[in-house]
Amino acid sequence: MWRIFPLLLCFYAVLSSGTSSDDDRRWLVSLIDLVELDYQDQCNQRAEATWEELLGNEKILSLKVLLEQDKAFGIFSSKQKMDVKSAFTSQALAADDDVLRRRVKLLLQPGDTLLETEQWIRLVTFADTALNRLRFAGDYNCGVTVNCTLRELHNAIAREQDEEKLRLMKASWDRHLPDFTEYLNKILPLLRNASKENLYDSVEEYWDSLAEYEGAMLTAREIWDHVRPLYLKLHKYVSLKLKGVDEVGKPLPIHLLRSLNGDDWSNLIESLLPTHPDIYQKLHANLQLKDVSGLNAFKEANKLLKQLNLGEIPSEILKESAFNGTCPPTIVDWCEPNRMRFVSCKDVSIQNYMDAHETAMKIKYKITTGLHSNNTYVLREAPRYSAIYEAVPGFVSLLSLNPHTLERAGLYPLNRFNYNQNHNRLVLQLIIALRDLPKLNYYIAADEWRLDVLMGKIPYHKINESWSEFRKNFSLIESSNSDILGSAHVLSNKPYIGNFLGLILKYQVYQSFAEELRSDDSDLIQHVSENNQRLIDAMMQGYGTPWPEMVSDLLAKRENGLEYTGLTDYFRLLDEYLDNQLDPTSENTIEEYVEPPIEVPPQENEIPEETPLPKAENNEGEQENAIKTHDNINENIIDTEDDHNYKLETSTVGVLEIKNPLAAGDQTEPTNVKEASYNIYWWIGVAVAIAIVVILVAIIARKRHNHRKQLERQRRQNSRA
Ligand SMILES: *[C@@H]1O[C@H](CO)[C@@H](O)[C@H](O)[C@H]1NC(C)=O
Ligand SMILES: *[C@@H]1O[C@H](CO)[C@@H](O)[C@H](O)[C@H]1NC(C)=O
Ligand SMILES: *[C@@H]1O[C@H](CO)[C@@H](O)[C@H](O)[C@H]1NC(C)=O
Ligand SMILES: *[C@@H]1O[C@H](CO)[C@@H](O)[C@H](O)[C@H]1NC(C)=O
Repeated sequence: MWRIFPLLLCFYAVLSSGTSSDDDRRWLVSLIDLVELDYQDQCNQRAEATWEELLGNEKILSLKVLLEQDKAFGIFSSKQKMDVKSAFTSQALAADDDVLRRRVKLLLQPGDTLLETEQWIRLVTFADTALNRLRFAGDYNCGVTVNCTLRELHNAIAREQDEEKLRLMKASWDRHLPDFTEYLNKILPLLRNASKENLYDSVEEYWDSLAEYEGAMLTAREIWDHVRPLYLKLHKYVSLKLKGVDEVGKPLPIHLLRSLNGDDWSNLIESLLPTHPDIYQKLHANLQLKDVSGLNAFKEANKLLKQLNLGEIPSEILKESAFNGTCPPTIVDWCEPNRMRFVSCKDVSIQNYMDAHETAMKIKYKITTGLHSNNTYVLREAPRYSAIYEAVPGFVSLLSLNPHTLERAGLYPLNRFNYNQNHNRLVLQLIIALRDLPKLNYYIAADEWRLDVLMGKIPYHKINESWSEFRKNFSLIESSNSDILGSAHVLSNKPYIGNFLGLILKYQVYQSFAEELRSDDSDLIQHVSENNQRLIDAMMQGYGTPWPEMVSDLLAKRENGLEYTGLTDYFRLLDEYLDNQLDPTSENTIEEYVEPPIEVPPQENEIPEETPLPKAENNEGEQENAIKTHDNINENIIDTEDDHNYKLETSTVGVLEIKNPLAAGDQTEPTNVKEASYNIYWWIGVAVAIAIVVILVAIIARKRHNHRKQLERQRRQNSRA
């Protein structure tokens, strides 16, 4: 409906040339306003088409409609650029006209849409068709069944133990990837043309500019150099656990990672758990018991957003979204106030739980950006990659596994967490590392390989195997020649650099808040909720300012650029553990495990409130309290050992062997807790507990006094280094 106005205005601007710069500016502003309205219109129509295609109700037709929309978008975008360009005169901008200047720039350099029409159409046709095929193929191999859907394939690959079956599953996915030669000859080289159209000499510069960070790729390489040792340790640990000591350091086949393209190793968790996986087992079991999947997972996410004082996402968005698709969720944005939907899956897993938090925060982010009136269309939906837009939602997904969040969600009691803080932290870090480190590696691998190919660094006769070769050297992963084509980013020639930088920044954001805590046991969620203004400020600005300019404020002025240390500090405990596992002679040992006392098993959907356990110390001011608390912890102690291996924070104490009911299963097998088993264990538990309490009372009375001094020393060590 707005389509014709820009043109008229444009004529008007040309005809009225010779007027003052004030008039120039006025015309430029009116033109841009209209151009943006037109963009919004386009966004609306494309969103409608994308949504229909994602639901897959009328496969052929909806793909066709989407393709038409996407093709038209390129033509539209190029035309808008011409309009803005012709109305733009340097006089139109005053020196302090930053917002207008930014709008002009974003409209003049919209990215790949500037390709010549035929080339743009080729690009979107290739990407849309390939994604549609991967999403809706019905003949994947799921082991038992051969004709299954992508969602079923994801679930099957997460559970399958048999190596050969895993290989066949992965191969059935590979068969649906688009033609690699076509990609190499006709799609990837379009990046060179797109760079030229956007006035850059090289693809790397072009990508740096889309990420709005000078030397973004260079920075990513430097950061990776520092993160790589941790990645390699994790890789070696995986090899050790899966294939034994002889295979450590050799490339691992992708299917053994239970992943389709190797960018997420979360499915391996049960093969990798340390000796005391209590928190994993309970979390896993409670997610199943409470059915934290689909809509429920988003309700949990909404609770966390509310606790963070960021406001919930509107219920209409949840109501209109679909939970019968695949994970991770895909957001569709109509570019209108609060008009968004997403497609997600209804399967329960820790990854999906975290993804729901990340997605909910992304939606909240978009809403917040949209509410700020300065953000016109192009300042909300800029064709740019912002690390902050990745980092803030990622930060919330980290918070979804915070002990206080788990306590409030009834997934793992805080007092139980406090018994073996380091063991529990270690398990959580492992869960998160399996999710993030392979992603980081994948992101940079995918970008580097593409740049290498485009710069002719790879001899022509080797080009067909170049991806698997690259992946083997760079990631120590044996992939197929073409499985990089399973990624939507790669299919549509988008860089991963923004995601890479975002992943790094998210740990910096985490650190900036965590360092402000007075004690390690304080409630980080509470703290963030009281200090969330810097998150909100960043979200409100949208793309109004390039994100690097906001980093300093976002991190409360600690750093003003990207640093790898946020990430490496976060995984410090895991790092030490991996060292120890890879070199058993090393000195680093995590403190001994304290078997938590038996607890009254939770009724279904209830947080257990049982035994008088320690409360978290909320700050150092409560020292007296803290002493008492630690008394309580140790009331269950029969015997203590001396403290020569107090490497880490908490105490080394031997205790009564009380098996915790949930961990009773074989620890190397996936624990599958059924509701019924709760009841049996409950009665056994009650009997054992009564017996133990009687014994303890007697023993404690005798021993308590002797331990007093030692306990105080432990407490000092507890206030974390
Ligand atoms: C799987 O689907 C193909 C084609 O759709 C069909 O020919 C084949 O019989 C099916 N196999 C099974 C086991 O259902
Ligand atoms: C890039 O543009 C040039 C000139 O328009 C064209 O000849 C070439 O075919 C384009 N590259 C691709 C991969 O289409
Ligand atoms: C999935 O759910 C959406 C809405 O929730 C519905 O429109 C669609 O038909 C469903 N698709 C399938 C395949 O069931
Ligand atoms: C944003 O809008 C407010 C009023 O809505 C105005 O005071 C402020 O200067 C604007 N900021 C920018 C950067 O234009």
